[in-house]
Amino acid sequence: MYFDFYGLKYEPFSLSPDPRFLYLAASHKEALAHLRYGLIQQKGFVVITGEVGTGKTTLIYSLLSQMPQQVISAFISNPVLTRNEFFYLLAHKYGLGEIENKGDFLVKFTRFLEEAHKKKKNVVLIIDEAHCLEKEILEEIRLLSNLETPHSKLINIILTGQPEFNEKLNVPDLRALRQRITLRYELEPLDLKETNAYVQLRMAKAGAKDAGIFTHAAIDSIYEYSGGIPRIINLLCDHALLTGFVKEAKIIDDKIIGECAKETGCLKGDRRGKQTRTLSGKTDHKKHILMWFLIVLLLSASAAFVYVFFSKLEQGREILEKIYQYF
Ligand SMILES: Nc1ncnc2c1ncn2[C@@H]1O[C@H](COP(=O)(O)OP(=O)(O)OP(=O)(O)O)[C@@H](O)[C@H]1O
Ligand SMILES: [Mg+2]
Repeated sequence: MYFDFYGLKYEPFSLSPDPRFLYLAASHKEALAHLRYGLIQQKGFVVITGEVGTGKTTLIYSLLSQMPQQVISAFISNPVLTRNEFFYLLAHKYGLGEIENKGDFLVKFTRFLEEAHKKKKNVVLIIDEAHCLEKEILEEIRLLSNLETPHSKLINIILTGQPEFNEKLNVPDLRALRQRITLRYELEPLDLKETNAYVQLRMAKAGAKDAGIFTHAAIDSIYEYSGGIPRIINLLCDHALLTGFVKEAKIIDDKIIGECAKETGCLKGDRRGKQTRTLSGKTDHKKHILMWFLIVLLLSASAAFVYVFFSKLEQGREILEKIYQYF
């Protein structure tokens, strides 16, 4: 809708985890390195957790799009499954053909893993939304990871999910699985500079020629409302471009972002970014006013106190009393 107005060829802030728009912030780089390690290691589990919307699924898609040739992978994005459904799905993903029951699956799967091992292929199972996994499925996954030769595991497992997955893993029943986790990483939201780079990169990849469509004050505001969470950044920026288009504003400033935040239900205090510095050099006006009000109050109280103390005049006391009554 607003493509022509801002000189764009594609949608810059789509909510799909499209690897073409991948931006690797420091934390994303580290998480991706952990995921890559999970492909080639011959040991156990890699677990990546991160707040909702921080980019876990996007990183997996990026990993899948550049899969090394020696890796045979299966990706499960919706692991809310019964035990049988889980085995059927795995058989389908690894091309094992029809299976009748768990025993049948295990026979076929073990044969498949041994053949892959002989061909020097790494078999990897990637499960997203791992916080949704039932305990019994987690236990089955652990048992699959027991399939091994005397020298190495036959399957590597990568689990990604929301931070509550860590709590789920902490229950005593799952200690055996916990012990097999060789790497864990918590994906962080973007910081202010990264938020700016993220917005600029997505705009440039969508075809924008002008790097100044979002002002520095707008980026400060986006960071404050989103706390550096990419999904919220996308939501705000998409809305802002639409609002800008309707208002015929070629430049998106902090006012437009503020309006969009209200309309999309983003609250400033909710996810306020950790950093207090700004790109624009502007400070929060409300904070400024409050600070000056307190300074004036303190100065008047001190002046009145000094006046009363030194002159001991009745009038001074009255002034002090009045000031105290007023505040
Ligand atoms: N590193 C990134 N580069 C580009 N876009 C990103 C990145 N991380 C996240 N996004 C964008 O943010 C949105 C949310 O990302 P994603 O779905 O990967 O988050 P998630 O952590 O998997 O969220 P959830 O916990 O809800 O599953 C996507 O639209 C994606 O385009
Ligand atoms: Mg996801």
